[in-house]
Amino acid sequence: MEAKVGLLVGVENTFPKPFLEMVNERGRPYQVTAELAKLGGVPEIEEPPRYQVIVDRISHEVPFYRAYLKSAALQGTAVINDPFWWEADEKFFECTLARRLGIAVPRTVVLPNKEYIPYIDPERSLRNLEFPLDWDGICRYTGLPAVLKPNTGGGWRDVYMIDTLDDLIRAYNQTGTKTMILQERIEWQDYLRCVVIGREVLVFRYDPNRPFMERYVTDAPPPAGLRDQAAEQARVLTEALGYDMDTVEFAVRDGVLYAIDFLNPAPDFDSFSIKADGFKWVLQHMCDLVLGYARGEMEPPWRGAHRWWRFV
Ligand SMILES: Nc1ncnc2c1ncn2[C@@H]1O[C@H](COP(=O)(O)OP(=O)(O)OP(=O)(O)O)[C@@H](O)[C@H]1O
Ligand SMILES: [Mg+2]
Repeated sequence: MEAKVGLLVGVENTFPKPFLEMVNERGRPYQVTAELAKLGGVPEIEEPPRYQVIVDRISHEVPFYRAYLKSAALQGTAVINDPFWWEADEKFFECTLARRLGIAVPRTVVLPNKEYIPYIDPERSLRNLEFPLDWDGICRYTGLPAVLKPNTGGGWRDVYMIDTLDDLIRAYNQTGTKTMILQERIEWQDYLRCVVIGREVLVFRYDPNRPFMERYVTDAPPPAGLRDQAAEQARVLTEALGYDMDTVEFAVRDGVLYAIDFLNPAPDFDSFSIKADGFKWVLQHMCDLVLGYARGEMEPPWRGAHRWWRFV
């Protein structure tokens, strides 16, 4: 049976072409083809759906794609990643989940927003909010130093390193309408970043202090014990979240892995950051995944998970 794979991408330029080429080449015997998806105004029902599989790398920045992907998922398209969960997912929730799974996370507090949309009347609309906030109590829980960062977000935008209570107030006052979390800062001796695709995990040592292009350390791999522990925890977190692809970061303090950021459902797949071997690994496993879905040998982890599945 013929199947079409569509790819949705943003500015990234190293992954798309070789990925599409590999899927087309390895898919040929099974009549599986792959292309950059092209979407305009789409109707609510498409029979059959135009793509059997879609790899979504950018719907967090293009809401129209998200709207289409939810409808496509309902009609049987295997969307990588689950558009419903991706939209709902947040760092504070993920910290709670990790804690419940027995995976170490920095002590974390979610904070009421600094500002609101203009027509909110603080006297009437915000009656449930404590004001002023108990900054001393909040810092007693997280400890100092800490990190103030958005509850959803990426690209290190609005991530503030906090050393004192004054720093915290100053930074918080700049956060506008964003929901922020304050997190114990892990003063780490080692740092790992795991790329997860399906059940497969590639563990990198990672140095956040280096310039952007040099952060994935490929010439000094982590010790095997730490690597295996990171891989297992990254696999569990990603599986619990229902993602097909994710990046999971850990800071290592006194031998304990602390999950720092695992809300990365469009993982960095650029060849210049993950380097040649990592890039080959990513292409291989992304290709295995989409061919598995395209050929109907595998089911997306989220299929059937929403209540409306029972009605359609
Ligand atoms: N609790 C913490 N303890 C120590 N370092 C932290 C902590 N939280 C964040 N950092 C540092 O700040 C960086 C950015 O934080 P985070 O990954 O949460 O933001 P992001 O915007 O999602 O980043 P990315 O786009 O790389 O995923 C981390 O890579 C880490 O170096
Ligand atoms: Mg992130």
